[in-house]
Amino acid sequence: VRLLSVSAEMFPFVKTGGLGDVTGSLPHALASYGVKVTTLLPGYPTVMAALRERKKLAYRPDILGHAATLWAGRAQDLDLLVFDAPTLFDRPGNPYLCPDGLDWPDNGIRFAAFSRMAADIAQGQVAAFQPDLVQAHDWQAGLIAAYLYHDRRAQVVPGRVVPVVQTIHNLAFQGRFPVADLARFGLPPEALSVEGCECYGAISFLKAGLYHADRITTVSPTYAHEIQTPEGGMGLDGLLRHRGELLEGILNGIDTATWNPASDRAVHFPYMVGDTVGRAPNKRALQAEFGLAADPDAFVIGIVSRLTAQKGIDVLAAAMPRLLVANTQVIVVGEGDREIERSLAVLQRQFPRRVACHLNYSEELGHRVPAGADVLLIPSRFEPCGLTQLGALRYGAVPIASRVGGLADTIVDANPAAMARGGGTGFLFSPVDEETLVSAVNRARLLYRRQRATWRQLQLNGAGYDVSWNAKAAHYVALFAELLGVDLSVPA
Ligand code: ADP
Ligand code: GLC
Repeated sequence: VRLLSVSAEMFPFVKTGGLGDVTGSLPHALASYGVKVTTLLPGYPTVMAALRERKKLAYRPDILGHAATLWAGRAQDLDLLVFDAPTLFDRPGNPYLCPDGLDWPDNGIRFAAFSRMAADIAQGQVAAFQPDLVQAHDWQAGLIAAYLYHDRRAQVVPGRVVPVVQTIHNLAFQGRFPVADLARFGLPPEALSVEGCECYGAISFLKAGLYHADRITTVSPTYAHEIQTPEGGMGLDGLLRHRGELLEGILNGIDTATWNPASDRAVHFPYMVGDTVGRAPNKRALQAEFGLAADPDAFVIGIVSRLTAQKGIDVLAAAMPRLLVANTQVIVVGEGDREIERSLAVLQRQFPRRVACHLNYSEELGHRVPAGADVLLIPSRFEPCGLTQLGALRYGAVPIASRVGGLADTIVDANPAAMARGGGTGFLFSPVDEETLVSAVNRARLLYRRQRATWRQLQLNGAGYDVSWNAKAAHYVALFAELLGVDLSVPA
């Protein structure tokens, strides 16, 4: 089975968050089931640079007003198709933002053209690569299903019909653009309908995908439920309820070859998964690296996160003075909202040697913090899946997280009942506010100080939890098999 995965991000070529991690690691897991993934990416400079050996598959002088070349190649063991439209994507830095931090004003046409190319490929217009099905990731690929639908209706392309799975990684980003752009996006007037691409007076790329896709997935069962409620649906819950029988939540995994503390080059003192003693020097190293007091008894809270309201980092900042009691230290690695960055910088000055921030992106620190901190704090207001808790569990940092989305699905709260059965892996709290955050941290700290054996058990339970893609890939395979009416049940 040939799957065309269409994504605006893919690690290690371009990543702003978990989407890139997922599209970069899932193909390896699917390969063992005989699903061969080829990923269509925009031709950002970093992608073009990675694709040194490439073959030209097509040239389009005018795809929604822009010239584009479609390249095929392999990089880092991944099969890529690259949509090389220099006027749209030959821009350095963040894939969505200009240097001043605002959205590129032409994001609509950028990702419409990208999706138009994907739809053409799906229709079999590129002889050298004919996929059996398409997985469209997030809003940037949302128009694919709409193009396929309207082309079919207009009988422009009678050819093959391949099913589209629309995957939601984050419902907060819907790709909304003015209705006046409809024709520029190459959509017919009738597309501008609630039964189509229209959404509260705008064109919504994600809504278009959710409306027209053959199936919808999101990245955890709990999030699949939450987005069908008015509280979590971000205006799309009605549609998602309506299409509820076609929607399922499949958890994300992480690449356990990369996430292996015994061979991870970011980890100063390598240790085997579950080796809490071998892990210990990493805490000291982390304190030293961040200029915190070198104290083995300090309770070290780590945070690795985009600094946004979604992630509840504003609540963390507000709660900080109350967290810094009883010999507690806090390390923050993250970038994002300027306001939040500023408040963290202030806290760092206010509490030297107890609060330390790296207000930037650092893949290495993203691994070193869970290898050294006692806990990883994730106070998200909503979290479709979340990946940092998975790395934390594997590396021995006990997660303290809000009870939402994928966090609720991957962490077992260390309440007395769970601990009596020896089953807890972390601490869950709700709702997300200062009080509950502080009391969850207090609860964790108390256990850490008073019951070291139980604490170690928590770490071991976490280390034993399967964070890999294995079982999750099997879910995708079952879905693909059902859609295509083929048997893919046996790993190749
Ligand atoms: P989201 O996609 O919403 O940002 P996830 O938890 O799914 O959340 O994925 C975030 C990914 O980005 C993880 O791999 C995490 O380690 C990484 N990450 C986030 N911020 C940083 C940062 N400042 N430095 C390094 N890695 C980061
Ligand atoms: C999104 C979500 C995050 C999820 C990631 C990968 O960025 O915010 O929860 O883990 O996508 O699916």
